[in-house]
Amino acid sequence: MAKIAVMGYGTIGSGVVEAISMNQESIQKKTGEEIIVKYVLDLREFPGDPIQDRIVHDYQIIAQDPEISVVVETMGGVEPAFTFSMAMLKAGKSVVTSNKAVVAEYGAELMETAVENHCNFFFEASVGGGIPIIRPLYTCLSPDVVTEITGILNGTTNYILSEMSQKGVSFGEALKEAQALGYAERDPSADVEGSDACRKIAILSSVAMGKKVVYTDIHTEGITGVTTEDFRYAEKMGMSIKLLASSRMSEDHRHMQSMVAPFLIDRDHPLFGVNDVFNAVMVTGNVVDQLMFFGRGAGKLPTAAAVVADVIETVKLKDVCGTEPWSSTVLKPNDYSQYTARFMVRLPEDMDRDLCEELFCPEKVLTGVVEGELALITAPMTERGYAEAAARAGRVISRTRLYC
Ligand code: HSE
Repeated sequence: MAKIAVMGYGTIGSGVVEAISMNQESIQKKTGEEIIVKYVLDLREFPGDPIQDRIVHDYQIIAQDPEISVVVETMGGVEPAFTFSMAMLKAGKSVVTSNKAVVAEYGAELMETAVENHCNFFFEASVGGGIPIIRPLYTCLSPDVVTEITGILNGTTNYILSEMSQKGVSFGEALKEAQALGYAERDPSADVEGSDACRKIAILSSVAMGKKVVYTDIHTEGITGVTTEDFRYAEKMGMSIKLLASSRMSEDHRHMQSMVAPFLIDRDHPLFGVNDVFNAVMVTGNVVDQLMFFGRGAGKLPTAAAVVADVIETVKLKDVCGTEPWSSTVLKPNDYSQYTARFMVRLPEDMDRDLCEELFCPEKVLTGVVEGELALITAPMTERGYAEAAARAGRVISRTRLYC
């Protein structure tokens, strides 16, 4: 019998308790022993809830109980989740988390502490909700050198962009719908400004590269500037617009370019069809070639499924440490101004065409899509080259990169 504790009885924490009870028998068969939730740590009481007698308010009760071998952290936010998780690991208890903020900030330190204390720190649920992606990167992709990870890693923004694309509604209207359906937070800035996806690609890149990728080093743009007019151009070109979080690595893993931004994506690309709140991650390895992982990137039970899978894994490992820390040596992405892309640039119709030709070397010009304007698809340009050209043009309405 394995006795565990759950810290944080919100959506995910209660989902973990529910999933364990829902599939008790099959989980026991797969784990080789029964998993019992002995404690639930929360500031609140839960009268009438099946766990009401197991609620504790002091994390030290869990840290000091020798019966507890695994602690689930589903509190969210950096503190006190980090302090509590560290205390558990130092007490020799494995920690399983869904908390991307903690993993992105302190993943290396938590994994090192787990190794020092012969236990585990697992974090499958921190990226892509129920999608198995962290363990496949560690195990199934171990023969490979990963050269690219590109994903739709935020369900809220994918829902908003899908609504804009399919129903022609504005960003504001789609955001309101996302909030009404409970996808977006009341303060949705972490989703719509891209910082949630940024933390997730930092975690995936750290796993793939074996070195710490600091999320604040990743150039990040959100979706607040995407308009219905942008989607009209996208449709004209047989494309859509998706918030992509992408890292491309050199085969020697010494260099990486990493970015989160809205991209125009061709209808032939597998990520084109990933809509609504779904997430997907495409991984390219130099042996396996391309893989795609798809599923629900958020939500109570899908995320709980990933947490419980980690619990089962660490229970099965018993005293074996299966944690493979990435090095705390920081791997900085290449200078963003040197990244290359093709851009869709929207300009007023009366722009000087010769100047446009000189500045953007357009491969294509689109007219008649939106009244009073035209759009150019530029030749591949560096970010710096584009910024200089746009400054000289002076009248850019908007610009969106093309993913290729
Ligand atoms: N706010 C996140 C999303 C939740 O919309 O994807 C899962 O991390």
